[in-house]
Amino acid sequence: KLRYVVDKSKRQRWPRHVIEVEAMFGLYRVMSFTAIILAAGKGTRMRSALAKPLHQVGGRAMLSWSIDAAMAAGAERIVTVLSPDSEDIQTWLDGAPFAIQHEQHGTGDAVAAARDSVGTGDGIAIIMFADTPLVTSQSLTALADCVASGASIAIAGFEPADPAGYGRLVPDKDGGITRIVEHKDATAEERRITLCNGGIMAVRTPALFDRLSRITNDNAKGEYYLTDIVGLAVADGQQVRHVVIAEDEIMGVNDRIDLARAEAALQSRLRHAAMESGVTMIAPETVFLAADAVIERDVIIDPHVVIGAGCHIGEGSMIRAFSHLEGAKLGACCVIGPYARLRPGTDAEEGVKIGNFVETKNTRLGAGAKANHLTYLGDAEVGSHANIGAGTITCNYDGYGKFQTLIGDSAFIGSNSALVAPVSIGARAIIGAGSTITSDVDEDSVALARAGMTEKAGAARAFRDRRDKDTGSKS
Ligand code: UD1
Ligand code: CA
Repeated sequence: KLRYVVDKSKRQRWPRHVIEVEAMFGLYRVMSFTAIILAAGKGTRMRSALAKPLHQVGGRAMLSWSIDAAMAAGAERIVTVLSPDSEDIQTWLDGAPFAIQHEQHGTGDAVAAARDSVGTGDGIAIIMFADTPLVTSQSLTALADCVASGASIAIAGFEPADPAGYGRLVPDKDGGITRIVEHKDATAEERRITLCNGGIMAVRTPALFDRLSRITNDNAKGEYYLTDIVGLAVADGQQVRHVVIAEDEIMGVNDRIDLARAEAALQSRLRHAAMESGVTMIAPETVFLAADAVIERDVIIDPHVVIGAGCHIGEGSMIRAFSHLEGAKLGACCVIGPYARLRPGTDAEEGVKIGNFVETKNTRLGAGAKANHLTYLGDAEVGSHANIGAGTITCNYDGYGKFQTLIGDSAFIGSNSALVAPVSIGARAIIGAGSTITSDVDEDSVALARAGMTEKAGAARAFRDRRDKDTGSKS
């Protein structure tokens, strides 16, 4: 069986600012409710050995997005409903509460499985789907508000470009909803309704569980539909309302094509948030951002740049075309790329320049240090204003362990030098081009480690004369 590395197989606890980015898309309001996230479906259309909720959007598992949206909206408790064979998700949840739905008999049956975890006290539950990762905390709050102000159920409604496949919200005369009819069960006339069920709903408890115990599976799919609680609530004389939510929030991921669509929608959100906060993007549609990227104002990002997880880019920096960054921290006014690769642990102070075909990993660079061309810096500390010549390599690995290279302030490393770690180059030292440095160099020294050069005057001409004679040709 294939094994996947999923978020290091544990749920990542995202730093506060990430949750705030989420909240930034809407009004941040804390409202007490329990979130029930349905994740027990088989997800067969993904055609994957990996559980659908662990597939990633924006570099994070879909389930992570649902959980964090619920947290940002102020969920008091979050219960994920899983199938019995969901060990991978259980491991990933890392101790967070879950309930098991023993057999997959539909969304109503799945919510009922959370009954013991949720409890039967008076409150509000928001039912979410693990395959709907882009819903915002603002929308969840709007649904919870609607129930807090008197509705028994508040449904996330939307008007999709193509309503086929979705449940339809059947209206009454006063703008309320009388019931939800699933596409498969709908009459031709009901299928003409364009207002659809986004799946997410806020519901009063304990009435929710009472109604779930009364629904049947007498329908086209032979399943217990969660959506049937709407008709029951109306029959009980309760108010059911809906809140209209944008399609790109409600978009469900059923297959890899949907997954790519969700990624595109999320990327567009992240780019907009970055541009709104003062970042220039020459061709935003070609820039890919991890959800936790922190990019300060007046950063300029050229086309075709990937900013992976864990990056912080300081004010006024420039990220030039085709650069790839992960886990990199940059101070103000750095210039990166084109074609630079910054790997985790790169930590550059202000004004650092990292140019084309330079790779950095686990390396600190002091203010104004430069590595402009064709270099590998791994497990290194580079002092401020040091200059790393083209083709310099820190030889940090001997096949067993990793070793450090220390380069002092204003040191000058000549082109094509190999610095064999562990090694230390003092401040202001100069390393002659082409050197292989295997022991420490003092500050202010010049070190040179290469074969001496010889020159034989006229030897080139003598060589050609001899070869011309041998072959009968003339140069
Ligand atoms: C559901 C709604 C439909 C709505 C659509 C929006 C019902 C009956 N229908 O349909 O009105 O328009 O979502 O996307 O609710 N799940 C379980 N256990 C189960 C079945 C499903 O946990 O036994 C979970 C799935 O993992 C998924 C979610 O519930 O996260 C939705 O299930 P899915 O089968 O995709 O529902 P739809 O047919 O899309
Ligand atoms: Ca679905």
